[in-house]
Amino acid sequence: MQRFEGKVAIVTGAGCVGEGWGNGRAMAVRLAQEGAKVFAVDLDPERLLETMSLAGDTASNLTTHQCDVTSSKQVEQMVKACTDHFGTVDILINNVGGSAAGGPVEMAEEVWDSQIAFNLKSVFLTCKYTLPILLAKKYGAIVNVSSSSGLRWTGSAQIAYAAAKAGVIQMSKVMAVQHASLGVRVNTVIPGQLHTPMVDFRLAKQRSGGDVDALLASRVKRIPLGFMGDGRDTASAALFLASDEAKFITGTEIVVDGGMTARCD
Ligand SMILES: NC(=O)c1ccc[n+]([C@@H]2O[C@H](COP(=O)([O-])OP(=O)(O)OC[C@H]3O[C@@H](n4cnc5c(N)ncnc54)[C@H](O)[C@@H]3O)[C@@H](O)[C@H]2O)c1
Repeated sequence: MQRFEGKVAIVTGAGCVGEGWGNGRAMAVRLAQEGAKVFAVDLDPERLLETMSLAGDTASNLTTHQCDVTSSKQVEQMVKACTDHFGTVDILINNVGGSAAGGPVEMAEEVWDSQIAFNLKSVFLTCKYTLPILLAKKYGAIVNVSSSSGLRWTGSAQIAYAAAKAGVIQMSKVMAVQHASLGVRVNTVIPGQLHTPMVDFRLAKQRSGGDVDALLASRVKRIPLGFMGDGRDTASAALFLASDEAKFITGTEIVVDGGMTARCD
């Protein structure tokens, strides 16, 4: 019996900005490989094609769905589409998010608003429409993806992202306590500075004028383990929290950062 046999999981941001193992893609593929029926959700259906191909023989466990998770209407329709297709939902993984550079002076107000919608309101919306299903069946696991930037300064100002990711951690705790007696667990995974395709495709432009190697070198220097993880490391932690092995774990976090946030020098 596989770990997620009989379970239905929604994973948001199940594509990836480039080729390789992003967080959402790794979680969706691993859940499918471990027996779950996965509703793989992304704004960009093209980004889901590689996710399907990486799932290999277990691609039949994945159903793709286009949805902008910052839109209340689309999220409501997405959750309904999942339950229409698979009959229910047991696991929700909120992976969509990403940073914009700047502190309050440099950042335009519109960027602040869109960052909060992208990183925080999106989690509120998916929980809003999924929780009633989990609460009715008195079973469910929600795993939210935060960031080490929600805990610490991580090398550059990204004020809205940091605030939103800190919000994700506390929002998860509140939902965890509120719904614990009805069998729904809510936890957070906190990735540190990984080497996912997002670093090459987006972050290098933001941070190092497109110099990917310089950015990777500056990121790895901060990590006590001396190497960078990727989306598969985030997935290992997220899948544990989503699984029944974590049945006594709610309202907490797993930090996946090679020791970075434990360090102070
Ligand atoms: N890579 C890192 O180093 C790192 C570190 C800390 C935290 N994180 C967090 O990990 C998460 C993402 O990781 P990833 O590797 O999967 O990222 P990614 O940037 O590769 O994005 C995954 C997918 O999200 C989709 N997406 C973007 N906006 C969307 C929207 N509005 N609605 C639906 N889908 C949308 C994209 O099309 C993409 O396919 C984010 O929450 C990010 O903050 C990443």
